[in-house]
Amino acid sequence: MRELFELNPLPGALGAEVRGVDLGADIADDVIDRLRQRWLEHRVLFFRGQELNPGQLAEFGRRFGPLEHYPFVEPLPDHPEVIPVIKEPDERANFGGGWHTDLVYRPEPSAATMLHAVEVPARGGDTLFADGVLAFEALSDRMRALLDGLRVVYHVAHVRRHVHDRSDGESTYSRSMPARAASAEGPASPAHHPVVRTHPETGHRSLYFSREHTERFESMTIAESRPLLDWLEAHVTQPVFTTRFHWESGSLAFWDNRCVSHCALNDYAGERRHMHRITIAGDAPF
Ligand code: SIN
Repeated sequence: MRELFELNPLPGALGAEVRGVDLGADIADDVIDRLRQRWLEHRVLFFRGQELNPGQLAEFGRRFGPLEHYPFVEPLPDHPEVIPVIKEPDERANFGGGWHTDLVYRPEPSAATMLHAVEVPARGGDTLFADGVLAFEALSDRMRALLDGLRVVYHVAHVRRHVHDRSDGESTYSRSMPARAASAEGPASPAHHPVVRTHPETGHRSLYFSREHTERFESMTIAESRPLLDWLEAHVTQPVFTTRFHWESGSLAFWDNRCVSHCALNDYAGERRHMHRITIAGDAPF
């Protein structure tokens, strides 16, 4: 099969870098189809040197599915699906700084996320990614049987608290990411999702797990749930299941939230980091 672009798998457990595609151009359908195949195989694709305005970012994202409106942060003017992800030099707390998958507290969490770097620190501010398929495949048969059928309760309150409680100055949202007026309305009831998820396109089974927004397991108390939740987080995020991406201005990461979790490192005090983010709508996990 003729290759339509260059693809180099990263040295970690997942992810590949794509070269030879200008994401701001009118990309042919066969290139998009091939990118989608490669994305499903590698779970995260990375691109470098893409000088995209927010409209071009949204346009590229739409080729992979309908875009969502993020409920908690005011989007960019004229681009309702694009949010800024910013940390100012004097701020300490960090958006996305715990292991998670995006919008997991919704009944139909995001299928995918694209993050585009506008301004990055000279060093630090990398993002870690963990592969839930590899983590699932490494489990013993007994542990798989134990987890099968367990559902995790995710609650938006864990997020809402960060947005509205600025009393300790430790909101995970930068002052450059104004809270959306409608955010207090967020989904009222928790979402319950299986901890072992089947990917709707590849059929792969994975550990679908987002500690950042987790309350407990369904039909279990918080105290009963905690030891297994702690173990799951430690298991999924072992170095052997992860990769680490170093951002440059113009880098873009495109990840599959249905089988990948991620975590933004907070190691660049005194410097500014500015990204643009879109998410692509997904379906109810099964
Ligand atoms: C996010 O969690 O979506 C943001 C990740 C990052 O800023 O690296």
